[in-house]
Formats: sequence, structure tokens, C-alpha cells
Amino acid sequence: MNDIIRQLEEKREKAHLGGGQKRIDSQHAKGKLTARERIELFLDDGSFEEWDMFKEHRCTDFGMDAEHVPGDGVVTGYGTVNGRLVFVFSQDFTVFGGSLSETQAEKICKVMDHAMKVGAPVIGLNDSGGARIQEGVASLGGYADVFQRNVMASGVIPQISLIMGPCAGGAVYSPAMTDFIFMVKDSSYMFVTGPEVVKTVTHEEVTAEQLGGAVTHNTKSGVADLAFENDVEALMMTRRLISFLPGSNRDKPPVVPCDDAADRLDQSLDTLVPSNANQSYDMKELIFKIVDDSDFFELQPDYAKNIIIGLARMEGSTVGIVANQPLVLAGCLDIKSSIKAARFVRFCDAFNIPVVTLVDVPGFMPGTSQEYGGIIKHGAKLLYAYAECTVPKVTLITRKAYGGAYDVMSSKHLRGDVNFAWPSAEIAVMGPKGAVEIIFRDEKGDPEKIAEREAEYKAKFANPFVAGARGFIDDVIMPNETRKRICRSLAMLKDKQIDNPWRKHGNIPL
Ligand code: HXC
Repeated sequence: MNDIIRQLEEKREKAHLGGGQKRIDSQHAKGKLTARERIELFLDDGSFEEWDMFKEHRCTDFGMDAEHVPGDGVVTGYGTVNGRLVFVFSQDFTVFGGSLSETQAEKICKVMDHAMKVGAPVIGLNDSGGARIQEGVASLGGYADVFQRNVMASGVIPQISLIMGPCAGGAVYSPAMTDFIFMVKDSSYMFVTGPEVVKTVTHEEVTAEQLGGAVTHNTKSGVADLAFENDVEALMMTRRLISFLPGSNRDKPPVVPCDDAADRLDQSLDTLVPSNANQSYDMKELIFKIVDDSDFFELQPDYAKNIIIGLARMEGSTVGIVANQPLVLAGCLDIKSSIKAARFVRFCDAFNIPVVTLVDVPGFMPGTSQEYGGIIKHGAKLLYAYAECTVPKVTLITRKAYGGAYDVMSSKHLRGDVNFAWPSAEIAVMGPKGAVEIIFRDEKGDPEKIAEREAEYKAKFANPFVAGARGFIDDVIMPNETRKRICRSLAMLKDKQIDNPWRKHGNIPL
């Protein structure tokens, strides 16, 4: 018995040391924490229950039978974040570069399977050289086993990926199928093929950081959702993200008691929209002023900035915010912003998070690059996402809601539950200038007449009353009472239930 206990202690010690002190030091020298340090910081103190610490690889090729580290390059188990259950796996770069062996995949699959059974999020801390080269196809099979589970878990439990080191080749596709990807600046990268292959095939010279670093994926590709300065910040912000989310699609998000009165008025909002329709303003100011305690967790803040997405709370309950940003491209919808918002709306819908949509949109972005890039298909994604969405939907038009973009942005016609407008709202097929140029083309040579026509068109449509007269707008509200009116609407919609017709799955334009 004593012998077994001694062996247990020895194995534990060995597992804790991973690939050894030298490699731990090298990890620290790169500004990275170890797999275990990350878990310790991420979970509530003392809550971590580790599984499979003694699991080892079964490879005997290339001298691998002589090299065994208990746990085999990934630390797995469960614990709590602010008292709520989460499952976690953390790849250990000090053990064979965190590379994914058949055994490592089995460990990851085990936590994913349990998370699905009990309904809790899975958080993956990725830091790996990819497939365990010595194992060949066994490792590839392991990846596919994880991919399959990512897909089955999609929309059932929240899945969050932190990229805290290399993530290359097919390995990127597991994070890609999770709900959120957070990256650490300067120490993480993701790409399908690395700089060397790129150089050979396309003759482009590019560094790993330029090709797939945190800044690249947060500004250019939109693959990642947030970038952080270091491991600690990434882990703390993941805890914050989890605080907004339910454990699974069977639950509602947690309610956090708050002292910010639901009927709080904000007079400053009455002057937020400039009197000149061509002048912009910051939609984030509206968001900060209406959500609980000005606490807004923005996602993808540096990508497709013409639309804002993120999580907040109203009267203590989580809401997803989607808002056009007039400061960027006048808030136009384009390919990137449509995709960004569509995926977010679908996330909210899957996890019982009501969607609050703030609209100031002059339309879809014109131009060959948009048309050739497939704006028709990509814009349709957002339309599709809103139309299939069954969670409570509250919409506010602050200023422009023109053309197809009016329809798309959670309009009444796409089952918007409560649709408000500010007095400054203009709901029309297009702006007065464009409209007059088309319908009064013959009078183009007469500027006076054109100005008159413009004024006429503006008087007819540059207000919320035409839409209001048809019931497309439920009420025209004063800006200062926005929080109160949205909170009341959300409270009324708390037990909303509608179902989409049965089908195997829809065919969202991809
Ligand atoms: C086995 C690996 C490994 C791997 C790294 N190591 N990657 N062992 N399989 N895939 C080991 C190294 O041998 C080394 O061992 C230790 O991890 C640290 O690696 P270093 O190279 O010293 O670290 P660094 O300089 O930081 O470079 C990290 C790296 C590099 C860029 C990730 O190691 C690398 O290029 N690795 C190979 C990447 C790769 O080609 N993977 C397969 C991709 S294909 P020692 O003992 O010296 O500490 C793939 C397909 C997935 O992943 C398909 C899914 C469908």
C-alpha cells in the first residue's frame, strides 16, 4: 500500500513537471504560462478536478516507447468559474510541443462528452505543434474525433478556444468550430499553412505573426473575436465572457442582481443624433448608456467596425447587442459586417440570449468588390439569422433604416417582437437625394425643382410615422427613455415561445 502511494506521488510529481524544468523555463521565457498555471488562474481557487493524469501515449515508433510523461501533453478536467461548472483542456507545450496524440485526443473527447451530458461549457487552452508527428494517422484520427464532437456540441454547450501558442494546419479547425476564439498577442498564431509553405507556393514572404498572429485574425480575417496582451488577461476575460453565458442550450443565462434602475432615464440621449443627417455619432455611447452599469463586453471590436456586437445585461439578464456604427462607413452593411453579425445572432439564438438591435443603416454597401465578393449571399446570412431567430428580439431605429437593410436589421417583418423608433428615425427605400434622382430624373436640370422634390420626399419618409401607421413600428419613443422601454419589453418577452417548423436543418447561404 505504502509503495502504491509512493508511486502515486512520484507519478503526480512527474505529471506536474510535464516536459521538465528546462522546457518550463523556456515556456516562461517566451512570456507564456504552463498548461497547469493557466488552469490554476482560470478556475476558481481549488476547484480543479483533474482527470487522466496517468494516461500515457501508446506509440512505440521512433523511440517513443522510452519517452513517457503522465498525462501526455494535455491537462484535462473540470472546475468552476464564479461557482459555475466548466470543463477545460489545456495543452502542455513542454510535452512533445503539446502535439496531439491519439491519447491526447481521447482525453479531450472525454471532457467534451461529459460537458455535453451535464450541460456545461468547454474551454480549450490551445498551445500545440499540431499532429504528433511520430504517431501519423492515429493522431489525424484523434483530431477528427475532436472535430466531430465540436460539431455535435455546437449550439448545445458554449465552446470557447484560447489560442496561447502555435495552432497550425488542420489543428485550426477545432477552434474554428467553437463559438469564440481569443488570442494572445505576440505568442499565438493560427494558419492552415505556415510561412515556409506560403513562400514556396505563392512566393510571398511573411512572418508567422503577419500571417496568423492575434492582430491579423482580429483585424483582417475576423477569425478571432478578441486579442489580449498576455495569458493572464486572456484567461480573466474568458471568465468574464462565461459570466454572460448559460451552461447549455437547456438553460437561460444567469441573472446577476444589479442596482442600476431599469427605469433610469438619460437626458443626454436626446441630443445624441445630430440634426444634420450626414453627421455621424458614436453608437457605442447609446449602448453604454442603456445597458446595466455601462458594462458592455464587445466582441470583434477591431473587425468590420461598421457593426458592433457584444454581450451586456439589462435588468440583470444577458442580452446580445447588435448595432450599426454610423462612425464607420456610415454604418453600411457589407460582407464582413453581415457575417460578423449573423454568426453572433445565431449564437444568441442558440443559447437563449435575447437580441437587442440598434439600427442606423443607410443600406448595403455598393460597389464591384462587394458584388464580386458575394454580398448577395453574405448579406443573406444576416437576414437568415434574424429570420430564424426565436429568442426575444427588441429593435430600435435611431436614425436611418433604408432599403433592404431596414428589413434585415430585425424588422417587424422578420418577427421582431418589439420595434421602437426615435423621433429622428427615417424609414424609407433610400435617402431623399437618391430617391428623387430616380423618380424625378426628368427634372434633373432644374436644381430648384429637385430641392423641392427632395424636401417633399423627406417630409413624407424622413420620419417614423409612415412605418408607424402600418404597425411596423410599435411606438416612437423619446431617446431618454430608451433603457426603460427596452427593459420593459424584455421583461414582457421573458417567457416568449415560438417554434420554427420541423426540419433536419435549414440551408443558410454559406
Ligand atoms: C511531435 C513535436 C511537434 C509535433 C513540436 N514538437 N511539434 N513533437 N509532433 N507536431 C516537439 C519538438 O520536437 C520539440 O521537442 C518540442 O516539441 C518543442 O518544439 P520546438 O520546435 O523546439 O519549439 P519552437 O521552436 O517553439 O517551435 C514550435 C513549432 C515547431 C513551430 C510548433 O515545433 C514546429 O514547426 N513543429 C512541427 C509542426 C508541424 O509540422 N506539425 C504537424 C502539422 S500537420 P524537444 O524534445 O526538442 O523539446 C497537422 C495536421 C493536423 O497538425 C491535421 C488535423 C486534421
